[in-house]
Amino acid sequence: MSVAGAVRAVTTLRLTEMKQRGEKIAMLTSYDYSTAKIVDAAGIDVILVGDSAANVMAGYETTLPITLDMMIYHARSVVRGVNRALVVVDLPFGTYQGNSKVALDSAIRIMKETEADAVKIEGGEEILESVQRIISAGIPVMGHLGLTPQSIHKFGTYSVRAKEEAEAEKLIHDARLLQEAGCFAVVLEKIPATLAKRVTEELSIPTIGIGAGGATDGQVLVVHDMLGITNDFSPRFLRRYADLHGVMSEAISNYVSDVKAKDFPNEKEQY
Ligand code: KIV
Repeated sequence: MSVAGAVRAVTTLRLTEMKQRGEKIAMLTSYDYSTAKIVDAAGIDVILVGDSAANVMAGYETTLPITLDMMIYHARSVVRGVNRALVVVDLPFGTYQGNSKVALDSAIRIMKETEADAVKIEGGEEILESVQRIISAGIPVMGHLGLTPQSIHKFGTYSVRAKEEAEAEKLIHDARLLQEAGCFAVVLEKIPATLAKRVTEELSIPTIGIGAGGATDGQVLVVHDMLGITNDFSPRFLRRYADLHGVMSEAISNYVSDVKAKDFPNEKEQY
């Protein structure tokens, strides 16, 4: 468990050094203490308390319903399990778009109440003032461009973003602005690999890709997807490293059978 207020081993500066050395950055989401403890001990560099918690923890269709209080609950639980990784927390929908003062207040609540290391915000030029204000308060910000799930009702689809020249140029422009504003890294979600490579080569801050090809400085996946806890989401970019859905289903149905058959508990499993 980390000491309250301690600086964890992976810092934003270390991520920049990793980019300079050509060492890839490994990032995964976590939303609870037990998973974060395993993820951290396995050597992950960055843990994202993503608003994807709305989907995989709470069962919502989109990420829009999750609240700041819910994100703070998840982030606090994660931080208690982490010693080494940098912990980044998503600012949820509605907590930064209004104006930069609202954004700063939301980011301050996350930093004060969770002891995480940084926040992540979706968007480019349109939220730049909020990014600047949060950074000026000493809070590190990770950007997020490309597919931005909080804007799903604007786009109407989760398909690949920035395939057209105009959208690709806007994304490059936004990436430059986020770097100039002082973001320490930027997530690039579901964009063509060639565009992600171009952005990665142009920026001095690290890019972390999800469905953005192999040229980005790091990769991120939702932990429930890569462990195969979810089995109804299979985009091309997702590599499943385990079938926990299968493992858990079999274990639980064996338990049910044992209880029904009066085989559990046996004599050695009682007092
Ligand atoms: O919320 C999340 O899990 C994310 C990642 C997909 C980058 O933002």
